[in-house]
Amino acid sequence: MSGSSQVYRSSTTAPVNIAVIKYWGKRDTALNLPTNSSLSVTLSQKSLRAHTTASCSESFSGPDSLILNGEKEEIQSSKRTQACLKNLRSLREQLEAKDGSLPKLSKLTLRLVSANNFPTAAGLASSAAGFAALVRAIADLYELPQSPEELSIIARQGSGSACRSLMGGFVAWRAGTKEDGSDSLAEEVAPVSHWPDMRALVLVVSAEKKGVSSTAGMQTTVETSTLAPARFKEIVPRRMKEIEKAIHEKDFETFARITMQDSNSFHAICLDSWPPIHYMNDVSRAAMNAVETANRKAGKLICAYTFDAGPNAVIYYLEEHTHQIAGVFRSILPRIPGWEGEFGEAVRPNEFGSLEQKSLMTLKAGVSRVICTGVGGGPEKIEEHLVDEKGNAVPHE
Ligand code: PMV
Repeated sequence: MSGSSQVYRSSTTAPVNIAVIKYWGKRDTALNLPTNSSLSVTLSQKSLRAHTTASCSESFSGPDSLILNGEKEEIQSSKRTQACLKNLRSLREQLEAKDGSLPKLSKLTLRLVSANNFPTAAGLASSAAGFAALVRAIADLYELPQSPEELSIIARQGSGSACRSLMGGFVAWRAGTKEDGSDSLAEEVAPVSHWPDMRALVLVVSAEKKGVSSTAGMQTTVETSTLAPARFKEIVPRRMKEIEKAIHEKDFETFARITMQDSNSFHAICLDSWPPIHYMNDVSRAAMNAVETANRKAGKLICAYTFDAGPNAVIYYLEEHTHQIAGVFRSILPRIPGWEGEFGEAVRPNEFGSLEQKSLMTLKAGVSRVICTGVGGGPEKIEEHLVDEKGNAVPHE
């Protein structure tokens, strides 16, 4: 194809990440600059991923557009999306200014099509994977030379936690100190290959939309919580050092303790906010109880819970303890969806969990699905496009 009808395309997939040191608080709301550093585990794209195709052509007219899971999204009024597009375009313009032979892609309308491989009903925040895929796909379309760290600065402006989805394995988001945010970026702490036996079991408790959005909740906490300043200044900086060391040394017990302490600290500053913010419910607390019971039974920490801005539990454990952790949940929750797939199929029900009756009943009644997964790699460029050669969106399945 040649001339004005040529459609340029690039596609990528990007992962979800779940923090073990939580981001909760912005020091700059426009640039999404955080009050503290954070650290996450990138989850396998075999279970959860966003798939995005970025395309542009002289034959496209009108404003840039985005179709997400088959529905047109309003992106003109989204300051966050516009900030990402503006940054990426300006990097492309710089390339075009240096090399006159490059096609002027920066001047063309963008057509973006994105789809998640997990049901929206899973109740998982998909914005991290979504913005990471969007930024990576456009950067590839524009053939930008920027590193994942540099691109993380752009993705951060879409959604803070998205900056950590540009890399695989164990990823830190350095809060940075500069006002323009140029040192607030993601860095790989260790690749997947360093600790590939890290597993994560997600208990989906509610598929409802979050009660209080993370942006609004963070602001309330920053403005009103009396406990938050100590968390930002002392507790998180110390925990970042400790957990990075634990990851480097593959010290699961320290990793697990800090993960649980930090989740509790985050929910404590939420409760300490005014008006107070509650994200966990009785089902979340039953999941905590199950984790504590498994650890007590083992006589050491073999699993760790963590909760984001909602009631879903994420439980980290090592593959060698699959039977004691995932096996127990499989015997409690045998009939709910999610046990199929590479990680879940290996899990055999284990009836010897010794969880007390009340928590058992609460979990049975409140968990609607599980996602059985593990640590995984960063974004991947793929040839499966969601925009056809003529520039039309491929129908959503
Ligand atoms: O990036 P946001 O605005 O979706 O905020 C994410 C906040 C938490 O998920 C609760 C913590 C984290 O670090 O991911």
